[in-house]
Amino acid sequence: MKKLMRTEIMRYLKNLSREQRHRIEEEQFVNVTGTSQWERARVIAITVSKYPEWSTRNFIEKGWEEGKKVAVPKVSPTLKSMEFYLVHTYEQMKEGYSGILEPDPEFCSIIHKKDIDLLFVPGLLFNYDGYRIGFGGGFYDRYLETFSGKTLSVTSENQLQDFIPVEDHDIPVQLIVTESRLINTSGEE
Ligand SMILES: Nc1ncnc2c1ncn2[C@@H]1O[C@H](COP(=O)(O)OP(=O)(O)O)[C@@H](O)[C@H]1O
Ligand SMILES: [Mg+2]
Repeated sequence: MKKLMRTEIMRYLKNLSREQRHRIEEEQFVNVTGTSQWERARVIAITVSKYPEWSTRNFIEKGWEEGKKVAVPKVSPTLKSMEFYLVHTYEQMKEGYSGILEPDPEFCSIIHKKDIDLLFVPGLLFNYDGYRIGFGGGFYDRYLETFSGKTLSVTSENQLQDFIPVEDHDIPVQLIVTESRLINTSGEE
């Protein structure tokens, strides 16, 4: 069932016109950068998006501009785990797992989980409690097990739904940001 749900929402994302995508991404950007979570974060951890995901480059570049530290993940497909590395330019990255830009450990240093203030968690579908259908690797569920910073997901209204199949290992995100609102799933400020 998760697989079918992923396929359907990927179709929605692929079918968006350039204009629709651009408008939603601009609104997501305004909403994310207006949060206290963003403002307070000195270190953000974020994946470099790959089409048809919502672009994360605007956040990466805004983070650099604002003098935040920006960390991107390198995954180990065999260990099913990931580690974040601090990056200052795209030149410090290269294509890795499933064509995603990853940090090149030769040119950047690793950052410990406890030093990440705000983690951007990718996802395809969400419920209002912050549960998520991801891309199917389970990488973020594993990472979140021992993560104690803030978490946020950037998505769209069309990717919210009441029912998401939840399994024991799934860990909800604290804040969902869409093009039109913020949903605080944890109830705290
Ligand atoms: N914390 C974890 N420990 C061990 N296995 C996990 C953990 N989290 C996820 N997995 C495994 O990873 C796979 C993908 O998880 P799933 O939640 O379906 O993916 P996603 O969150 O990317 O949509 C599943 O087979 C799941 O059992
Ligand atoms: Mg999961």
